[in-house]
Amino acid sequence: MPPDVYTSRDWYEREVETIFMKSWLVATRVEEIPKPGDYVRLDIVGVPLLILRDRKGVVRAVSASCRHRGSELATGTGNCMTLVCPYHAWTYSLEGELKHAPSMEGAKDFRKSDYNLPTVRAETWGGFVFINFDDDAPPLLETLGDLPDRLSSYALEDMKVTRKWENRFNANWKIWVENSREGYHVGVVHKPSLDRFYPGARVTPFEAAGVPGIYAINTSDNENGLYVPRNRTLPFVEGLSAEDQERTHFLIFYPHLLMNVPPDRITFHQYFPEGPEWTRIVTWCCFPQSTIEREDFEREAEEKYYPSMVQFIDEDKGICEVVHRGIGRLTTPGRYSPSQEKTVYEFANYVLDHVIGPPA
Ligand code: FES
Ligand SMILES: [Fe+2]
Repeated sequence: MPPDVYTSRDWYEREVETIFMKSWLVATRVEEIPKPGDYVRLDIVGVPLLILRDRKGVVRAVSASCRHRGSELATGTGNCMTLVCPYHAWTYSLEGELKHAPSMEGAKDFRKSDYNLPTVRAETWGGFVFINFDDDAPPLLETLGDLPDRLSSYALEDMKVTRKWENRFNANWKIWVENSREGYHVGVVHKPSLDRFYPGARVTPFEAAGVPGIYAINTSDNENGLYVPRNRTLPFVEGLSAEDQERTHFLIFYPHLLMNVPPDRITFHQYFPEGPEWTRIVTWCCFPQSTIEREDFEREAEEKYYPSMVQFIDEDKGICEVVHRGIGRLTTPGRYSPSQEKTVYEFANYVLDHVIGPPA
């Protein structure tokens, strides 16, 4: 795509309006808020939100911005049964209703019910909590198409997060998405990882499948997927087809779920655009509950599973910044490899269709 798509503030604002304000976006995992009152505070494209579990156990998303003078209502993660503003103590229920506003007697026509917190839709699938700013968007499950069926044998809802890595880097969010969904760069950018963890691996093109505009799946044999350690000790998910046991899938559910699915766990990258030039990435690793319960889990994960992921993330982060620095006035669009960059091509079209509209 042309350079402005990666650097222009105007283009970025259009992406926020046409993509992020209209789509199901990954907010957290359900196990991060297991009990009534648990909350996670997130900024999604600059909007302060609280993802929480209400008293009845329902997962919700409410604005984290006080209706009085806008103060942030909570930070980080925690548990509370009411949301009390740290500034003047306006107090809200977990459903976002304003319950208490001190010293407001005498404020003409002031009705507490006019000052509830805006809510954002929150729905779950596979243990993921998604939010959507658009009240008119179709339900999450409808939007996912046949993806839940395709992944049902992995029992994603039985997986639990065991590790998270957070990185902020100086590159447009789309550079991360494009890079993370193709295998073209693997033999080059991840050569240090390959040499360290998979010496002698033969790099093969990823196979692409999916439904344009909804999801894409790139698939590789496990060695080139770089996720199953050669001396693996932790079990594969039970009941996977012979094919799934030999492969690692890299999928995108547009625009925001970037999930890597080897036979033994999942990892996913949650990205938070912070303007056109900066992106914060949280990479999550989740294992099946039955694997986590093994007595050797911690040791094996630390020794054999996490180190390669740390190195891949570092290599990917580095190359994304290199790409972003290279994009400038003299950059003109190149060509995509038909065998290696189908997903990048589809993603580019997804972005263009949203920001400037589909071709007439
Ligand atoms: S800003 Fe929240 S109570 Fe004043
Ligand atoms: Fe990579």
